[in-house]
Amino acid sequence: MTANLSEIVRVDLGDRSYDIEIGVALWPRLAESLVENFHPKRAIVITDSNVGPLYEPKLEEAFRPSGIELSYHQMSAGEEHKNLDTVQTLYDEILSRGCDRKTPVIAMGGGVPGDTGGFVAATLLRGVPYIQVPTSLLAMVDSSVGGKTGVDTPHGKNLIGAFYQPALVSVSIDTLETLPKREVCAGLAEVIKYGVIWDAKLFEELESGIEKLVEGDRDSFIRIVKRCCEIKAEVVSKDEFESGLRAILNYGHTVGHAIEAATEYGEYLHGEGISVGMVVETEIAELLGRDLGDLKPRLKDLFQRANLPVTPPEHVEPARIWELMHSDKKTLGGDIRMVLPSELGNVDLVPGITRKVFEKAWGNCG
Ligand code: NAD
Ligand code: GLY
Repeated sequence: MTANLSEIVRVDLGDRSYDIEIGVALWPRLAESLVENFHPKRAIVITDSNVGPLYEPKLEEAFRPSGIELSYHQMSAGEEHKNLDTVQTLYDEILSRGCDRKTPVIAMGGGVPGDTGGFVAATLLRGVPYIQVPTSLLAMVDSSVGGKTGVDTPHGKNLIGAFYQPALVSVSIDTLETLPKREVCAGLAEVIKYGVIWDAKLFEELESGIEKLVEGDRDSFIRIVKRCCEIKAEVVSKDEFESGLRAILNYGHTVGHAIEAATEYGEYLHGEGISVGMVVETEIAELLGRDLGDLKPRLKDLFQRANLPVTPPEHVEPARIWELMHSDKKTLGGDIRMVLPSELGNVDLVPGITRKVFEKAWGNCG
């Protein structure tokens, strides 16, 4: 396997800045970069039970010339394993095999091993270097960038965690070839989100050919993943700890997370929850008097072309969603706040969303 040319996006955070490398079969380059930056004898790989069997052999082969010994730790795949029990098991396995403060952790997989592995790296020996190696589209365009690490609790998603930036994000686009189509489409919901919140041109590019991405065209993926990473890098560089701007990345997520929770994380993938969330939140913006022109029909059309849902689940009462939205991290003192579009490419955080407006929007979208 040979290392190929890659696209680089820089996340500018002073002495915690890092590169996102995007290309094809970047594993050998990753090994070289670890040698140059950390000179490690060993590295710890945290992955899941789907991704490990597919990619550990490739990683092993690519790392052989570097002399770095890899130790593998596979968590069970799935959101239900993103919890403190898994973290405890990983600590036990890693500490019993031995590591020091310079032993890098490679978090390889989707957002679940990415967030969990990042949290382990943030807390092990009070912090060891870590590398994100995202293999799902969602992880490539969102979760691997920006340093939000953490796990779920019975009280809610991502409630235990740390801001802890990776030293490098290495995106081998070819790994998308084994990602199930439904997961690819769920990742496209986050891609479409970037168009609405930041980049009207990106939205228009998606309108002119989202089918290429649904079908898995490699060059289109490289271009689109790079653009999404540029946007996320810019937002994170301006507001690393989410004191303001970074909240815009949550467009569609207030309603979307509540839909995921109301259906017990078993019915909707994250991207599917937020596509419905983006439609409902756009309807709310219109009910609040915003003139969005043809944004909503264009958004729905794009979602439908990417096999994503656009109507709220009929079997879920809006009252349940309203209740669940009170545990959203943007909610302050019971005040539901939502990221709403003002035009294509622009959104802002709006406080004071009322139950009446929300329930009307939910009904209108059904
Ligand atoms: P995931 O990690 O569960 O991956 C989805 C599925 O695809 C899993 O079954 C996984 O095993 C499989 N998979 C991944 N890559 C594959 C590949 N190349 N080939 C075959 N199968 C593959 O979930 P996800 O959708 O990647 O991420 C969702 C998670 O990300 C959630 O926990 C969410 O909270 C988190 N998230 C975090 C951030 C952040 O900023 N940290 C942002 C968005 C989402
Ligand atoms: N995915 C939201 C964020 O990184 O802030």
